Amino acid sequence: MTQNTKCRSCCCQRDEEPNRLRRNLLKIGALIGLASPATTFASRKPEKMRPQVGDRLVFAYGERQGAIIRSDDVVLGATPIAAFPKDTLYDIVRDRSRLNQLLLLRLESDELAENMAPYHLDGVVAYSAVCTHTGCTVEGWDGERKRIICPCHGSEYDVTRAAAVLLGPAPKPLAMLPLTLDEGTFVVAGNFSRKVGFKK
Ligand code: FES
Repeated sequence: MTQNTKCRSCCCQRDEEPNRLRRNLLKIGALIGLASPATTFASRKPEKMRPQVGDRLVFAYGERQGAIIRSDDVVLGATPIAAFPKDTLYDIVRDRSRLNQLLLLRLESDELAENMAPYHLDGVVAYSAVCTHTGCTVEGWDGERKRIICPCHGSEYDVTRAAAVLLGPAPKPLAMLPLTLDEGTFVVAGNFSRKVGFKK
């Protein structure tokens, strides 16, 4: 049976054993490569984690940066809105990874390809903003031709065809993030349709 001893470092008379035990466990953990729960949580860095189910989309930049995007903010045919997912429970915007940046846009739902059905909400689509060529942020927009354009090497993605590549060196379409609507705001409903980013 373990008996607590009183602290001998000062006059506080606190039980010493639990602290010593905790320190020893941490030392053993460090020696055999185990992380403490606190370390594990820190290493996961919620602000860098990929979008999680239940996150809400917020404005990435501008005057309304960090504000939750509402359905009526996304106007038919307008320039896509740059967005990040936010864990509203812990008030954490997942903006410490470029791979989380999204482009939110509204299109006519009847002009969208069939394979986009799980990824649009009455024509609203969230595309990854990371080019599949070498990872630049895609930020050009051609509303006439419904194309997202990468400024680095000119790849063009057709937003009505699940971001199929129409021009340039990009090898794959942009990923799509499934959404649902809750009280007029966009909520992440699943994982990206494909791995985000590019392959070296
Ligand atoms: S990084 Fe986008 S076309 Fe090269």
